[in-house]
Amino acid sequence: MRTKLVIANWKMNLDISESVQLAKKLKLSFLKKLWQDQVVICPDFLSLSSVYQALNKTKIRLGAQNCFWQEVGAYTGEISPKNLKQVKADFVILGHSERRYYFKEKNEEIALKVDLALKTNIKPIVCVGEALTDHQKGRTLSTLKKQVKQSLQGIKLKSKDKIVLAYEPVWAIGNGKNLDPKEVVKILSFLKAEIAKVFSSTKAENNFSFIYGGSVSAENVKDFAKFKEIQGLLVGSSSLKLRNFSKICNDFLS
Ligand code: PGA
Repeated sequence: MRTKLVIANWKMNLDISESVQLAKKLKLSFLKKLWQDQVVICPDFLSLSSVYQALNKTKIRLGAQNCFWQEVGAYTGEISPKNLKQVKADFVILGHSERRYYFKEKNEEIALKVDLALKTNIKPIVCVGEALTDHQKGRTLSTLKKQVKQSLQGIKLKSKDKIVLAYEPVWAIGNGKNLDPKEVVKILSFLKAEIAKVFSSTKAENNFSFIYGGSVSAENVKDFAKFKEIQGLLVGSSSLKLRNFSKICNDFLS
């Protein structure tokens, strides 16, 4: 998967009408852009249908922020990937650090979700990243190695399957402290090598894309755009304002 991506993670920041308003503005702003289909918007579950309608006649893609690992059954409050597909989500963010932290999501559970998302024809955006203490104690690579191995445990990749692997250092999220793009390139190449060990180097090349997230902004996006190894960006805070997000997409995808 070589096409670059910019993925907006709106988290729980917007209500339904705010999400629709922002989607309508994006539609106008991106009207003639050739890279429209390289932009993925991930609103909250309840806004997915309305945002899809607001984006009609564009090629902007839709993603969800989580899903469950069973397709159907007595799982009160959970969301099936089958339903995400029905509301036109093509992507799903899995294992975001906020879910790992607040909801105690484990790698094993994330692997089950990845598996079902792939079987449902939804592209998983699998997030990995080290916490501040691991970063400070020099445990970044060992943490990432474990997360990658366990979050993709048991996955049987078909040639059509695509996984987006998002490196998001937890200490760089939502605070303006982005990791130096040169360091990002090193970590992404480490992740690619780990994926090659788990699957194969052909699969690492063909079935995965490697992206970065953590305080990407309109101000620093050009620094990331310089490196072809950074195949995409996962953007939180800076995806909530039209001007910032348009600039990020323009600078990274044009
Ligand atoms: P941020 O969030 O861009 O606000 O750092 C990124 C994310 O959590 O995916």
